[in-house]
Amino acid sequence: MDCLFVGQHIIELSSVDSTNNYLIDLSQNISLLEGTVVVAKEQTAGKGQRNNRWSSEAGKSLCISILLKPKLDVSQQFLFNKFIALSLCQALNNYSLKTKIKWPNDILIDSKKVAGILVENSIRGSKIEKSIVGIGVNINNNISQLPSATSLADCLNTIPSISELLEFICINIEKNYFLLKQKPSMINEHYHQNLFQKGGVQKFSKNGESFDGIINSVNENGQLVVEANDRLEFYNMGEIKFMI
Ligand code: BTN
Repeated sequence: MDCLFVGQHIIELSSVDSTNNYLIDLSQNISLLEGTVVVAKEQTAGKGQRNNRWSSEAGKSLCISILLKPKLDVSQQFLFNKFIALSLCQALNNYSLKTKIKWPNDILIDSKKVAGILVENSIRGSKIEKSIVGIGVNINNNISQLPSATSLADCLNTIPSISELLEFICINIEKNYFLLKQKPSMINEHYHQNLFQKGGVQKFSKNGESFDGIINSVNENGQLVVEANDRLEFYNMGEIKFMI
């Protein structure tokens, strides 16, 4: 692998409850090198954001967790999430796909979700000491029951290799990790360049009612900033839903 530290140590599992859980437990028991990756063919209890489940068929999606030790200030937690979403988006661009990041950090192709991210941080004092970065990408799983999802195989008409995709992801995470530490404003800029519907009119639903707004940005607290009713409104994750 063409990286200095991300993906230099890979733990391959055929089946596990969740690669995030596995890496959290392992990193509590033994000292692991930064950049260690756990990859599983199958997850029996994959975790999604906000306590949702992430299900995938064995061998038909990429399920990985990466250990990073960013030592960033807690105030930069969402910047860290932006860095991961950006890296995943750029990794998928190797396939010449038009990927976008949907706030907060879903990856879409043609407005459909192809990949998701679950970052679990452990904080010591005011620093993010350890970050378990979980990534799931639909490769060729059957998503016909999920109208808002897509897979790489559907978009490419061929099945990409899991190991090649893993390498693209590691390369982009490593490249952006240096930027995150040295020029964090660039991460923010590139995240916004790839943000789904930025500057466009989007229909949202809030407490069962729909409204139109223009996506302005995602601020440092991870809130979606929307221009609606002639002012800027700030939304936390889960407060509004995109109507696509
Ligand atoms: C989401 O979009 O809700 C986040 C999905 C994250 C899924 C990945 S698959 C590998 C890693 N292990 C988990 O249990 N979850 C993440």
